[in-house]
Amino acid sequence: MLNVKNDLFLNNVGDLISAASIHNEHTILIVDDEINNLQLLKRTFRNKYKVLTASNGLEGLETLKNNINDISLIVSDHKMPIMEGTKFLEEANNIAPDVIKILLTGFSDIEIITDAVNKCNLFQYILKPFNPEELLEVVKNGVDKFDLASSKSIILKDLKELFYKTIKSIASALDAKDPYTHGHSMRVTLYSIILAKELNVPSNQLESIETAGLLHDIGKIAIPESILCKPGKLTDDEFTIMKSHPANSEKLISSIKKLHEISPGVKHHHERWDGKGYPDKLQGEDIPFAARIIAIADTYDAMTSTRSYRVALSHQTAISEIEKCAGTQFDPVLAKKFVEIQDIIEAAKEHPEEYYLKYSTLYEQIH
Ligand SMILES: [Fe+2]
Repeated sequence: MLNVKNDLFLNNVGDLISAASIHNEHTILIVDDEINNLQLLKRTFRNKYKVLTASNGLEGLETLKNNINDISLIVSDHKMPIMEGTKFLEEANNIAPDVIKILLTGFSDIEIITDAVNKCNLFQYILKPFNPEELLEVVKNGVDKFDLASSKSIILKDLKELFYKTIKSIASALDAKDPYTHGHSMRVTLYSIILAKELNVPSNQLESIETAGLLHDIGKIAIPESILCKPGKLTDDEFTIMKSHPANSEKLISSIKKLHEISPGVKHHHERWDGKGYPDKLQGEDIPFAARIIAIADTYDAMTSTRSYRVALSHQTAISEIEKCAGTQFDPVLAKKFVEIQDIIEAAKEHPEEYYLKYSTLYEQIH
Protein backbone atom coordinates (compact mmCIF):
# COMPACT_ATOMS: atom_id res chain seq x y z
CA MET A 1 0.00 0.00 0.00
CA LEU A 2 2.77 2.35 1.03
CA ASN A 3 4.72 1.44 -2.07
CA VAL A 4 1.76 2.19 -4.28
CA LYS A 5 1.36 5.58 -2.66
CA ASN A 6 5.08 6.28 -3.05
CA ASP A 7 4.94 5.22 -6.67
CA LEU A 8 1.99 7.49 -7.30
CA PHE A 9 3.76 10.33 -5.53
CA LEU A 10 6.94 9.74 -7.48
CA ASN A 11 4.99 9.53 -10.72
CA ASN A 12 3.42 12.90 -10.04
CA VAL A 13 6.74 14.50 -9.11
CA GLY A 14 8.30 12.83 -12.15
CA ASP A 15 5.59 14.26 -14.35
CA LEU A 16 6.24 17.72 -12.92
CA ILE A 17 9.98 17.42 -13.46
CA SER A 18 9.55 16.06 -16.96
CA ALA A 19 7.06 18.79 -17.85
CA ALA A 20 9.58 21.40 -16.71
CA SER A 21 12.55 19.83 -18.47
CA ILE A 22 11.10 19.13 -21.92
CA HIS A 23 13.56 20.98 -24.10
CA ASN A 24 12.09 20.40 -27.47
CA GLU A 25 8.64 20.16 -28.94
CA HIS A 26 8.81 16.69 -30.45
CA THR A 27 5.93 14.38 -29.69
CA ILE A 28 6.34 10.62 -29.66
CA LEU A 29 3.52 8.13 -29.94
CA ILE A 30 4.09 4.82 -28.11
CA VAL A 31 1.86 1.85 -28.91
CA ASP A 32 2.05 -1.26 -26.75
CA ASP A 33 -0.63 -3.56 -25.34
CA GLU A 34 1.33 -4.45 -22.19
CA ILE A 35 0.79 -1.80 -19.57
CA ASN A 36 4.17 -2.40 -17.87
CA ASN A 37 6.03 -1.96 -21.17
CA LEU A 38 4.01 1.15 -21.93
CA GLN A 39 4.94 2.64 -18.54
CA LEU A 40 8.61 1.75 -19.01
CA LEU A 41 8.66 3.34 -22.45
CA LYS A 42 6.86 6.40 -21.14
CA ARG A 43 9.42 6.79 -18.35
CA THR A 44 12.23 6.38 -20.88
CA PHE A 45 11.03 9.21 -23.09
CA ARG A 46 9.09 11.66 -20.96
CA ASN A 47 12.10 13.74 -19.86
CA LYS A 48 12.98 14.57 -23.42
CA TYR A 49 9.77 14.41 -25.41
CA LYS A 50 6.05 14.88 -25.15
CA VAL A 51 4.60 11.39 -25.02
CA LEU A 52 1.25 10.06 -26.27
CA THR A 53 0.29 6.44 -25.67
CA ALA A 54 -2.08 3.89 -27.16
CA SER A 55 -2.66 0.28 -26.11
CA ASN A 56 -3.44 -1.13 -29.57
CA GLY A 57 -3.08 -0.37 -33.28
CA LEU A 58 -6.57 1.01 -33.80
CA GLU A 59 -6.22 3.38 -30.88
CA GLY A 60 -2.76 4.30 -32.20
CA LEU A 61 -4.17 5.21 -35.62
CA GLU A 62 -6.88 7.32 -33.99
CA THR A 63 -4.28 9.14 -31.84
CA LEU A 64 -2.10 9.68 -34.91
CA LYS A 65 -4.99 11.16 -36.91
CA ASN A 66 -5.93 13.46 -34.02
CA ASN A 67 -2.34 14.68 -33.58
CA ILE A 68 -1.08 14.46 -37.16
CA ASN A 69 0.68 17.84 -37.05
CA ASP A 70 2.41 17.17 -33.73
CA ILE A 71 3.77 13.61 -33.87
CA SER A 72 7.37 13.25 -35.10
CA LEU A 73 7.99 9.60 -34.28
CA ILE A 74 6.16 6.37 -33.42
CA VAL A 75 7.51 3.50 -31.33
CA SER A 76 5.32 0.41 -31.65
CA ASP A 77 5.44 -3.07 -30.25
CA HIS A 78 4.92 -5.82 -32.82
CA LYS A 79 3.00 -8.57 -31.03
CA MET A 80 -0.30 -6.96 -30.14
CA PRO A 81 -3.91 -8.13 -30.25
CA ILE A 82 -6.40 -6.45 -32.68
CA MET A 83 -3.64 -5.29 -35.03
CA GLU A 84 0.00 -6.37 -35.26
CA GLY A 85 2.67 -3.69 -35.02
CA THR A 86 3.78 -4.05 -38.64
CA LYS A 87 0.18 -3.68 -39.87
CA PHE A 88 -0.33 -0.65 -37.62
CA LEU A 89 2.88 0.98 -38.87
CA GLU A 90 1.97 0.22 -42.48
CA GLU A 91 -1.36 2.02 -42.02
CA ALA A 92 0.34 4.79 -40.05
CA ASN A 93 2.71 5.23 -42.99
CA ASN A 94 -0.25 5.78 -45.32
CA ILE A 95 -1.58 8.48 -43.01
CA ALA A 96 1.76 10.11 -42.12
CA PRO A 97 4.60 9.03 -44.43
CA ASP A 98 7.05 11.57 -42.98
CA VAL A 99 6.65 10.43 -39.37
CA ILE A 100 9.58 8.25 -38.24
CA LYS A 101 8.61 4.66 -37.35
CA ILE A 102 10.41 2.32 -34.96
CA LEU A 103 9.32 -1.26 -34.24
CA LEU A 104 10.00 -3.19 -31.03
CA THR A 105 10.18 -6.93 -31.53
CA GLY A 106 11.60 -10.26 -30.34
CA PHE A 107 14.24 -12.33 -32.18
CA SER A 108 11.66 -14.65 -33.69
CA ASP A 109 10.09 -11.86 -35.68
CA ILE A 110 13.13 -11.07 -37.84
CA GLU A 111 11.66 -12.44 -41.07
CA ILE A 112 8.52 -10.39 -40.67
CA ILE A 113 10.69 -7.35 -40.01
CA THR A 114 12.53 -7.64 -43.30
CA ASP A 115 9.23 -7.38 -45.13
CA ALA A 116 8.00 -4.64 -42.80
CA VAL A 117 11.04 -2.41 -43.41
CA ASN A 118 9.74 -1.71 -46.90
CA LYS A 119 5.98 -1.77 -46.26
CA CYS A 120 6.11 0.50 -43.20
CA ASN A 121 8.97 2.75 -44.31
CA LEU A 122 10.58 1.59 -41.05
CA PHE A 123 13.41 3.75 -39.67
CA GLN A 124 14.73 1.00 -37.39
CA TYR A 125 13.68 -2.01 -35.35
CA ILE A 126 14.76 -2.66 -31.78
CA LEU A 127 15.09 -6.13 -30.34
CA LYS A 128 13.52 -6.82 -26.98
CA PRO A 129 14.46 -6.64 -24.18
CA PHE A 130 15.74 -3.21 -25.05
CA ASN A 131 18.29 -1.05 -23.29
CA PRO A 132 16.57 2.29 -22.53
CA GLU A 133 19.74 4.28 -23.26
CA GLU A 134 20.13 2.62 -26.66
CA LEU A 135 16.47 3.16 -27.44
CA LEU A 136 16.80 6.82 -26.50
CA GLU A 137 19.76 7.12 -28.88
CA VAL A 138 17.80 5.52 -31.74
CA VAL A 139 14.84 7.82 -31.06
CA LYS A 140 17.15 10.85 -30.98
CA ASN A 141 18.56 9.85 -34.40
CA GLY A 142 15.00 9.37 -35.67
CA VAL A 143 13.91 12.78 -34.44
CA ASP A 144 17.03 14.36 -36.01
CA LYS A 145 16.11 12.71 -39.31
CA PHE A 146 12.56 14.05 -38.98
CA ASP A 147 13.95 17.58 -38.38
CA LEU A 148 16.27 17.32 -41.35
CA ALA A 149 13.47 16.16 -43.66
CA SER A 150 11.20 18.97 -42.41
CA SER A 151 13.84 21.65 -42.94
CA LYS A 152 14.65 20.19 -46.36
CA SER A 153 11.01 20.38 -47.37
CA ILE A 154 10.79 23.99 -46.11
CA ILE A 155 13.92 24.93 -48.11
CA LEU A 156 12.54 23.14 -51.18
CA LYS A 157 9.23 24.96 -50.84
CA ASP A 158 11.06 28.30 -50.46
CA LEU A 159 13.09 27.55 -53.59
CA LYS A 160 9.95 26.65 -55.55
CA GLU A 161 8.31 29.88 -54.40
CA LEU A 162 11.37 31.88 -55.42
CA PHE A 163 11.39 30.14 -58.82
CA TYR A 164 7.65 30.72 -59.41
CA LYS A 165 7.78 34.40 -58.39
CA THR A 166 10.95 35.06 -60.40
CA ILE A 167 9.56 33.48 -63.58
CA LYS A 168 6.26 35.34 -63.18
CA SER A 169 8.08 38.64 -62.60
CA ILE A 170 10.19 38.14 -65.72
CA ALA A 171 7.05 37.39 -67.75
CA SER A 172 5.29 40.49 -66.35
CA ALA A 173 8.34 42.67 -67.09
CA LEU A 174 8.28 41.46 -70.69
CA ASP A 175 4.54 42.05 -71.06
CA ALA A 176 5.01 45.57 -69.71
CA LYS A 177 7.26 46.46 -72.69
CA ASP A 178 4.19 46.82 -74.87
CA PRO A 179 0.87 48.07 -73.42
CA TYR A 180 -0.96 45.99 -76.05
CA THR A 181 0.58 42.75 -74.82
CA HIS A 182 -0.10 43.44 -71.14
CA GLY A 183 -0.80 40.10 -69.44
CA HIS A 184 -0.12 38.17 -72.68
CA SER A 185 2.46 35.70 -71.30
CA MET A 186 0.31 34.97 -68.27
CA ARG A 187 -2.84 34.38 -70.37
CA VAL A 188 -1.01 32.23 -72.93
CA THR A 189 0.28 30.16 -70.02
CA LEU A 190 -3.20 30.01 -68.53
CA TYR A 191 -4.81 28.67 -71.74
CA SER A 192 -1.88 26.26 -72.20
CA ILE A 193 -2.17 24.74 -68.72
CA ILE A 194 -5.96 24.48 -69.00
CA LEU A 195 -5.61 22.60 -72.30
CA ALA A 196 -2.82 20.39 -70.90
CA LYS A 197 -4.75 19.59 -67.72
CA GLU A 198 -7.91 18.78 -69.66
CA LEU A 199 -5.77 16.40 -71.75
CA ASN A 200 -4.69 14.68 -68.49
CA VAL A 201 -1.04 15.49 -69.03
CA PRO A 202 1.10 14.22 -66.08
CA SER A 203 1.97 16.80 -63.42
CA ASN A 204 5.74 16.99 -64.14
CA GLN A 205 4.91 17.87 -67.75
CA LEU A 206 2.32 20.42 -66.59
CA GLU A 207 5.07 22.20 -64.67
CA SER A 208 7.26 22.38 -67.80
CA ILE A 209 4.41 23.61 -69.97
CA GLU A 210 3.58 26.31 -67.43
CA THR A 211 7.20 27.50 -67.21
CA ALA A 212 7.60 27.38 -71.00
CA GLY A 213 4.37 29.38 -71.37
CA LEU A 214 5.58 32.11 -69.02
CA LEU A 215 8.93 32.40 -70.80
CA HIS A 216 7.99 31.60 -74.42
CA ASP A 217 8.38 35.19 -75.63
CA ILE A 218 11.28 36.17 -73.37
CA GLY A 219 13.49 36.63 -76.47
CA LYS A 220 11.35 39.67 -77.37
CA ILE A 221 13.43 41.55 -74.80
CA ALA A 222 16.06 41.82 -77.54
CA ILE A 223 13.57 43.16 -80.14
CA PRO A 224 13.58 46.98 -80.49
CA GLU A 225 10.39 48.62 -79.26
CA SER A 226 10.04 50.38 -82.62
CA ILE A 227 9.36 46.95 -84.13
CA LEU A 228 7.66 45.32 -81.16
CA CYS A 229 5.13 48.13 -80.70
CA LYS A 230 4.81 49.23 -84.34
CA PRO A 231 1.15 50.06 -85.07
CA GLY A 232 1.31 49.21 -88.78
CA LYS A 233 2.46 46.24 -90.81
CA LEU A 234 6.08 45.16 -90.34
CA THR A 235 8.49 45.40 -93.29
CA ASP A 236 10.19 42.18 -94.42
CA ASP A 237 13.37 43.13 -92.55
CA GLU A 238 11.43 43.99 -89.42
CA PHE A 239 9.54 40.71 -89.64
CA THR A 240 12.85 38.83 -89.95
CA ILE A 241 14.02 40.49 -86.74
CA MET A 242 10.69 39.73 -85.07
CA LYS A 243 10.99 36.08 -86.10
CA SER A 244 14.27 35.79 -84.22
CA HIS A 245 12.53 35.94 -80.84
CA PRO A 246 11.85 32.19 -80.28
CA ALA A 247 15.52 31.35 -80.89
CA ASN A 248 16.50 34.30 -78.68
CA SER A 249 14.18 32.95 -75.97
CA GLU A 250 15.89 29.58 -76.16
CA LYS A 251 19.35 31.18 -76.05
CA LEU A 252 18.44 33.22 -72.98
CA ILE A 253 17.17 30.26 -70.98
CA SER A 254 19.79 27.77 -72.16
CA SER A 255 22.30 29.01 -69.59
CA ILE A 256 19.94 28.04 -66.76
CA LYS A 257 20.13 24.31 -66.04
CA LYS A 258 16.69 24.14 -64.42
CA LEU A 259 15.17 25.51 -67.64
CA HIS A 260 16.83 23.11 -70.10
CA GLU A 261 13.78 20.89 -70.38
CA ILE A 262 11.54 23.76 -71.44
CA SER A 263 13.85 24.88 -74.26
CA PRO A 264 12.10 22.89 -77.04
CA GLY A 265 8.67 24.24 -76.07
CA VAL A 266 9.98 27.78 -76.08
CA LYS A 267 12.04 27.59 -79.25
CA HIS A 268 9.32 26.04 -81.41
CA HIS A 269 6.14 27.84 -80.36
CA HIS A 270 5.86 29.46 -83.83
CA GLU A 271 6.23 26.22 -85.80
CA ARG A 272 3.16 25.13 -87.77
CA TRP A 273 1.71 21.62 -88.07
CA ASP A 274 2.15 21.84 -91.89
CA GLY A 275 5.85 22.76 -91.60
CA LYS A 276 5.44 26.38 -92.69
CA GLY A 277 6.35 27.92 -89.36
CA TYR A 278 9.64 29.11 -87.88
CA PRO A 279 12.47 28.92 -86.85
CA ASP A 280 13.09 25.34 -88.09
CA LYS A 281 10.02 24.53 -90.24
CA LEU A 282 9.34 21.50 -88.07
CA GLN A 283 6.28 19.47 -89.04
CA GLY A 284 3.59 17.47 -87.25
CA GLU A 285 4.69 15.56 -84.18
CA ASP A 286 8.31 16.63 -84.71
CA ILE A 287 7.15 19.85 -83.09
CA PRO A 288 7.56 19.46 -79.32
CA PHE A 289 4.26 18.82 -77.52
CA ALA A 290 4.55 21.92 -75.29
CA ALA A 291 5.19 24.09 -78.37
CA ARG A 292 2.07 22.72 -80.11
CA ILE A 293 0.00 23.59 -77.04
CA ILE A 294 1.50 27.07 -76.64
CA ALA A 295 0.96 27.78 -80.36
CA ILE A 296 -2.82 27.39 -79.97
CA ALA A 297 -2.96 29.36 -76.71
CA ASP A 298 -0.75 32.10 -78.17
CA THR A 299 -2.91 32.52 -81.26
CA TYR A 300 -6.15 32.52 -79.26
CA ASP A 301 -4.80 35.25 -76.96
CA ALA A 302 -3.44 37.30 -79.87
CA MET A 303 -6.86 37.20 -81.56
CA THR A 304 -8.89 37.99 -78.43
CA SER A 305 -6.66 40.91 -77.34
CA THR A 306 -6.72 44.42 -78.74
CA ARG A 307 -3.54 45.16 -80.64
CA SER A 308 -2.07 48.42 -81.96
CA TYR A 309 -3.37 47.55 -85.44
CA ARG A 310 -6.87 46.14 -84.59
CA VAL A 311 -9.45 45.68 -81.84
CA ALA A 312 -9.95 42.33 -80.11
CA LEU A 313 -11.89 39.65 -81.97
CA SER A 314 -14.69 37.85 -80.17
CA HIS A 315 -14.15 34.52 -78.41
CA GLN A 316 -16.36 32.78 -80.97
CA THR A 317 -14.44 34.24 -83.95
CA ALA A 318 -11.15 33.10 -82.42
CA ILE A 319 -12.49 29.59 -81.75
CA SER A 320 -13.79 29.34 -85.35
CA GLU A 321 -10.36 30.38 -86.63
CA ILE A 322 -8.61 27.72 -84.51
CA GLU A 323 -11.10 25.12 -85.75
CA LYS A 324 -10.42 26.21 -89.33
CA CYS A 325 -6.64 26.00 -88.91
CA ALA A 326 -6.64 22.54 -87.29
CA GLY A 327 -4.37 20.31 -89.35
CA THR A 328 -2.63 23.19 -91.14
CA GLN A 329 -1.40 25.62 -88.49
CA PHE A 330 -2.28 23.55 -85.42
CA ASP A 331 -2.08 19.96 -84.20
CA PRO A 332 -5.62 18.76 -85.11
CA VAL A 333 -6.07 16.70 -81.92
CA LEU A 334 -5.04 19.55 -79.65
CA ALA A 335 -7.08 22.09 -81.61
CA LYS A 336 -10.15 19.83 -81.37
CA LYS A 337 -9.72 19.57 -77.59
CA PHE A 338 -9.28 23.35 -77.32
CA VAL A 339 -12.57 23.85 -79.14
CA GLU A 340 -14.25 21.24 -76.92
CA ILE A 341 -13.22 23.03 -73.73
CA GLN A 342 -13.96 26.50 -75.11
CA ASP A 343 -16.37 27.33 -72.27
CA ILE A 344 -13.59 26.93 -69.71
CA ILE A 345 -11.24 28.94 -71.94
CA GLU A 346 -13.80 31.76 -72.27
CA ALA A 347 -14.43 31.82 -68.51
CA ALA A 348 -10.65 31.91 -67.91
CA LYS A 349 -10.35 34.81 -70.35
CA GLU A 350 -12.90 36.74 -68.26
CA HIS A 351 -11.28 35.87 -64.90
CA PRO A 352 -7.61 35.13 -65.66
CA GLU A 353 -6.21 35.61 -62.13
CA GLU A 354 -8.79 33.35 -60.54
CA TYR A 355 -8.37 30.61 -63.15
CA TYR A 356 -4.59 30.88 -63.03
CA LEU A 357 -4.50 30.00 -59.34
CA LYS A 358 -6.94 27.15 -59.98
CA TYR A 359 -4.91 25.56 -62.78
CA SER A 360 -1.30 26.48 -61.92
CA THR A 361 0.94 23.57 -60.91
CA LEU A 362 3.73 25.93 -59.81
CA TYR A 363 1.33 27.80 -57.54
CA GLU A 364 -0.15 24.56 -56.18
CA GLN A 365 3.32 23.34 -55.16
CA ILE A 366 3.85 26.24 -52.78
CA HIS A 367 0.39 26.32 -51.20
FE1 LIG B 1 6.06 34.35 -79.75
